[in-house]
Amino acid sequence: MKTIFVKKADVTDEIIRQAAETIKNGGLVAFPTETVYGLGANGLDDDAVNSVYLAKGRPADNPLILHISNLEMLKLIAKDISPVAKVLMNVFWPGPLTLVLKKTELVSDSISRGLDTVAVRFPAHELAQKLITAADTPIAAPSANISGRPSPTEALHVLEDMDGKIPWILDGGSCDIGVESTVVDVTGDYPIILRPGKITFEDISDLFPDTQYDQHLVAEQGEIVAPRSPGMKYKHYAPKGEIQILSGELLDIQQYIDKHLTEKSAVLTFTQYKIKHKNIYSLGNINRPEEGCAKLFSHLRTFDTLGIEKIFAVMPDKRGVGFALYNRLLKAAGGKVINL
Ligand code: TXA
Ligand code: MG
Repeated sequence: MKTIFVKKADVTDEIIRQAAETIKNGGLVAFPTETVYGLGANGLDDDAVNSVYLAKGRPADNPLILHISNLEMLKLIAKDISPVAKVLMNVFWPGPLTLVLKKTELVSDSISRGLDTVAVRFPAHELAQKLITAADTPIAAPSANISGRPSPTEALHVLEDMDGKIPWILDGGSCDIGVESTVVDVTGDYPIILRPGKITFEDISDLFPDTQYDQHLVAEQGEIVAPRSPGMKYKHYAPKGEIQILSGELLDIQQYIDKHLTEKSAVLTFTQYKIKHKNIYSLGNINRPEEGCAKLFSHLRTFDTLGIEKIFAVMPDKRGVGFALYNRLLKAAGGKVINL
């Protein structure tokens, strides 16, 4: 299949209309959102949804998020919406928040994969909204990477993974946030955070003090707790090289790196940690984890391109958005932190 790559400057309303037509007819369109690029399909068309799994090589038990651009669409796919859910929608939609809700009959098992719930997101990105509105259907969209690879934060990342497999890639430039949406289960009396993101535990517990993290996210090192969100159990975001997260004083981190570095190693660090090494990649200011989120996946892809075999990563500050950065790094590192 020939993939049409539409550069940012060339994405007109007419192009969006044509891409939306492709979605309506069962084809796949990669499009930007404020978090990461999505691989979009008509969420109410089983064949289209199944072709998303094929293009990504996605495990069959991992359900998809449905993306909407107005609350009318929500009524089609979700029911019994709790007061907790309503508040979170009011405060954070449109935005980088995905809510797990009770699904209606219209949502087939090709989306929900054995669950009786559906994950719904109302993205804030203008192009994403226009595409959903023009397609006039909820759009199923996982991150537009091959399963297991870092999520795409640039249209060229999508091209790397999807060239020849899908008809359209719409370029919207770099994604502002760079890590996927916060996923929150709101089917009960209090919110349960299943995947951390830009909207933080602190943001949600300000509104609902009984907010919890899924136990999987806060398990101790070595403790195995099955996640409630199927996608969180896979080794994700992983570059081909081995990542080691290093926690400790600058001097100890430097010593560890000096001792273990190889020809093909690299360092992921923050401005405050001035590590000496020939391949330094910055995650920005440690106190502004948004900067690290915006850069992390792009750096991980660069490491693959350069054939980096070992990556030393300085431990982020876990507070606020830092928890999302830490979570993605931890997954990429196979769940281990080295305490120095
Ligand atoms: O920011 C995002 O959310 C991006 C953009 C494109 O919107 N999408 C995204 O989709 O990250 P994906 O498929 O890569 O991740 C969806 C996550 C997975 O961990 C999946 O298991 C979980 O949401 N999920 C989907 N439906 C669920 C459900 N009914 N219950 C619990 N978790 C669910
Ligand atoms: Mg994904």
